[in-house]
Amino acid sequence: MAIGLDDVVAAETVLSHVDGEAGRLIIRGHDLEALAGRVSFEDAVAMLWNGVVPLSEDPGAALGQGRQRAFALLSPLASNLRGLTPVEGMRLLLAALPDADKEPATLAVGGAAVAAAMAVRAAQGLSPVAPDPAAGHAADLLRMLRGDVPDAGEAKALDTYLVTILDHGLNASTFTARVVASTEAGLLSAVVAGLCALKGPLHGGAPGPVLDMLDAIGSIDRAEEWLDAAIGRNERLMGFGHRIYKVRDPRADVLKGAVSRLKGGDNRIAFAEAVEATALKVLARRKPGRRLDTNVEFYTALLLEALGIPREGFTPLFGAGRTAGWVAHAMEQARTGRIMRPQSRYVGPWPAEAA
Ligand code: ACO
Repeated sequence: MAIGLDDVVAAETVLSHVDGEAGRLIIRGHDLEALAGRVSFEDAVAMLWNGVVPLSEDPGAALGQGRQRAFALLSPLASNLRGLTPVEGMRLLLAALPDADKEPATLAVGGAAVAAAMAVRAAQGLSPVAPDPAAGHAADLLRMLRGDVPDAGEAKALDTYLVTILDHGLNASTFTARVVASTEAGLLSAVVAGLCALKGPLHGGAPGPVLDMLDAIGSIDRAEEWLDAAIGRNERLMGFGHRIYKVRDPRADVLKGAVSRLKGGDNRIAFAEAVEATALKVLARRKPGRRLDTNVEFYTALLLEALGIPREGFTPLFGAGRTAGWVAHAMEQARTGRIMRPQSRYVGPWPAEAA
């Protein structure tokens, strides 16, 4: 029995594969490194969805229309976001999108971008910015979020990020989306469920706390003592460890490269690299044999910070990109899978047997 479902195969997929021993992520037959920074998010989505999710010839136009249709449905809800964190606001907005839509897949991906941007702005007391359906998806997401047109380097960095986190095997949120899809509840319901699972700090909620950790450490001469004390308090070091990767997460280096290429992105990178090296040393000493290495969230935090995104907005942006993966898995599950219905082992009391 596997509490936590380690090593349990719950689905077959053509979408992506994570090789945790080799530190390799394969998406539809391509290594991540051959895609991130080389193809746009729109083209990566078209490739991921090919033969699984219907999409028109022009993926850029289809996602642009998805953003536009979602904005028409979601912008009237802006005043309902008061008092919510960005990820809670995004959850509320996605839940308002109908399952019974004629093109639910592009509504979901367009809607996730619109909802992430709206929710981040609402938490800052700012009103929503309408999408530009003719713009690239990453550039438009950044514009809707920040309210200014990003330069080409910034748009490229976010595009690289969105492709990097597009899909990643049967992680907790993707599994959740597949469970919901397996009951035939509908595509948007599967996406909302995926976001709910993503939000936790052990999954997609980690990158904001990575920055909190860097801030708390403050200077490199304090790193070892700080990290050691955190482990002594039984805390997790955010941005380290992974259920599948027993070596370095390949997404970490892709994102580190993207931050380094960004104007001003190197401000924090030298400090972050030094903290990372110290953390790996401390983890090896304090958690021997656990094989804990850097995961995607460490450099996600630096990249999104360099793009001027507030740290509470990091998980919504993760959700905006990963929605394309949830959609593909949900549709693959609905088409090929059975209802997910595992067993639990009862360890409670039994009724007294009748004499
Ligand atoms: N810092 C310190 N210790 C850790 C860490 C960490 N980041 N991760 C695991 N460990 C330790 C555990 O305390 C445990 O030690 P023990 O055997 O002495 O009790 C051992 O390593 C094994 O940990 P598990 O909890 O069994 O590992 P699991 O596979 O369940 O956890 C997880 C994986 C949740 C990602 C974990 O490594 C973690 O909490 N990391 C920090 C949060 C984080 O970065 N999350 C983002 C993950 S990437 C993503 O989801 C997109």
